[in-house]
Amino acid sequence: MIVSLYSTKGGCGKSTLAVCLAAYWSQTKKTALLDADPQASLSVCRPEVLHVPVFEDTSRDVGKTIARLAGEYERVVIDTAGYQRRKSIEALEHSDFVLIPCKPSPFDLREAMQAVELLREIAGGGKRKDSHPRYAVVLTMAQRTAVSAQIREDLQHSGVPFMSAQIGQRVAFVETPSIGFPPPGSVAALEIELLAKELRRRLRA
Ligand SMILES: Nc1ncnc2c1ncn2[C@@H]1O[C@H](COP(=O)(O)OP(=O)(O)OP(=O)(O)O)[C@@H](O)[C@H]1O
Ligand SMILES: [Mg+2]
Repeated sequence: MIVSLYSTKGGCGKSTLAVCLAAYWSQTKKTALLDADPQASLSVCRPEVLHVPVFEDTSRDVGKTIARLAGEYERVVIDTAGYQRRKSIEALEHSDFVLIPCKPSPFDLREAMQAVELLREIAGGGKRKDSHPRYAVVLTMAQRTAVSAQIREDLQHSGVPFMSAQIGQRVAFVETPSIGFPPPGSVAALEIELLAKELRRRLRA
């Protein structure tokens, strides 16, 4: 299963979610992280706490890298660059599922919708027969504020695929690359588990 994190909005939580999902899956599945962002944010991940191999793609053909990793790992999580590069689009084309993180702000929502448009084009572009990649917006860094609730409601009514699971604003997520997956039973661990399970359900549907 190949899952990409994508949005043209910088700082919406792509790398953080990529690390957290990979760390979660690595507890039970052979999992790899692919850093397809030239910023190479994932290089800060500490392998002694995370236990997920991080691959950088320096090739001209990210599709080949993804296919190689998918042959070797049960889960491949791809962190893409926060802007539309040919490489990001190629990574999306090779994904089974694309998560579009969206912070609870109108600016972020607007960018998330642009990402949805791109995914619609890719999924409808006929390159793949199985109408993949599937995709959905996921609310990240959510807080108990009126604007968080409003953005969630706007997403629900927008008609775009939208994950029920949401990710809160939590220090545990900031710490995951350096101290590892949040402790079992913590709210942060539960949020990632619910997101991963919903993603599986959507892929099976
Ligand atoms: N759920 C969260 N709760 C609290 N802080 C978060 C959360 N998710 C991300 N952050 C913090 O927000 C900042 C941006 O996150 P991140 O680097 O994951 O975004 P990004 O979309 O990958 O950014 P870029 O577009 O630059 O690659 C980081 O400082 C990160 O630690
Ligand atoms: Mg990033």
